[in-house]
Amino acid sequence: MSLATQALDVEAVRRQFPALSLRIDGQPAVYLDNPAGTQVAQRVIDRLTEYWRTMNANQGGVFATSQRSDALLAKTRIMAAAFLNARSPAEIVFGPNMTTITFAVSRAIGRELKPGDEIVVSRLEHDANVAPWLALADQGIRVRVADITLPACMLDVESLKQQLTPRTRLVALTHASNAVGTIPPLRQVADLAHAAGAWFWVDAVHFGPHGAIDVQAIDCDFLVCSAYKFYGPHLGLLYGRQDLLERLRPFKVRPASDKGPGRWETGTQNHEGLAGMLGAFEYLAGLSPEGNGTPRAQLVAAMGRLGRYERFLVARLLEGLSRIPGVQIFGITDPAQLGERAPTVSISWPPHHPEDIARWLGEHQVFTTHGDHYAPGLMERLGLQDRGGTLRIGLAHYNRPSEVDLVLELLAGYRS
Ligand SMILES: Cc1ncc(COP(=O)(O)O)c(C=O)c1O
Repeated sequence: MSLATQALDVEAVRRQFPALSLRIDGQPAVYLDNPAGTQVAQRVIDRLTEYWRTMNANQGGVFATSQRSDALLAKTRIMAAAFLNARSPAEIVFGPNMTTITFAVSRAIGRELKPGDEIVVSRLEHDANVAPWLALADQGIRVRVADITLPACMLDVESLKQQLTPRTRLVALTHASNAVGTIPPLRQVADLAHAAGAWFWVDAVHFGPHGAIDVQAIDCDFLVCSAYKFYGPHLGLLYGRQDLLERLRPFKVRPASDKGPGRWETGTQNHEGLAGMLGAFEYLAGLSPEGNGTPRAQLVAAMGRLGRYERFLVARLLEGLSRIPGVQIFGITDPAQLGERAPTVSISWPPHHPEDIARWLGEHQVFTTHGDHYAPGLMERLGLQDRGGTLRIGLAHYNRPSEVDLVLELLAGYRS
């Protein structure tokens, strides 16, 4: 047994996820669709049902269930701050999902911009980190796109530098590509953005389940992610520098408080979901080999442990795929560079159509995703937009090495 498998007891992990024992038509379900959403730990389910059973109420009431509910949501905010390494829970905003949060904040940022101002994005982005900025075109804001280098699909930092101008107000970049896994050099880009006088916005939706997010180390001004990608419920999360959250003007109803992060949380929140999100943080912290320490220290240790195991898995997947004739892998394949990618692998296998392969794998209860993965700019750059995009095999820390072997075996035997 290798060091990586020893470091994480995957069978003990799997016992905490009820959905992983699902069988369909007598066959075990194999979840390799993780970039589209992960399964949830029992701890998440327990927190959700506990909420409904013992504290279901609206906020701000002067009675027991409302006070319990408020206390639980405050706890979730503290843990979310630990998860992202925010300086204070006041820098954490909850929302329905990353896309909705980004549209809401981009509109508020738009109020500060002037015609002719510019925003820089990259070719790696999910469209949820492009369309909200493009929507500001109506008021004369221009979106410029930094290129990538091929074949590894890494951010072309020189191209990004060329997009920066005296009019750049914001640089919006992914923490990891949800299509090909690449992790760009965020700190370097933060420094470039700030030197140009721009804010730095990070989309950490795809990276969230794979490593410790650190808004202070990145030095970003905003960062968004989604709990349903890191083993929690369908919810989104925003980190915003406190002074910016206070300065920008959200679109909100008048009676709602205009103080603190709540001014960005329009309407009634998904309280039970937020209880579940707390369960996800608790589950992850529980993977820490340390056992004690601050929540942040536990989360960092846990994510490091899980990341090492995932790199072991993705190395096995990449090696196996490279031995199947005709399969083209997009993104980093060099074993020495696995720290610069998430364990999300996109392939193309002409003349097979990605959807046909995914359907065939699905008939064997092996779940993968296909298409453009909502990253149309990247698909266009790879020349795949009219070829059905890619087949995406997305690993998570609860996948077994034998599941990687199974998908490789099925692919090796695939005949359309
Ligand atoms: C990298 C990335 N950004 C943004 C999103 C959109 O997230 P949400 O579904 O929370 O709106 C996704 C969803 O797949 C994603 O993978």
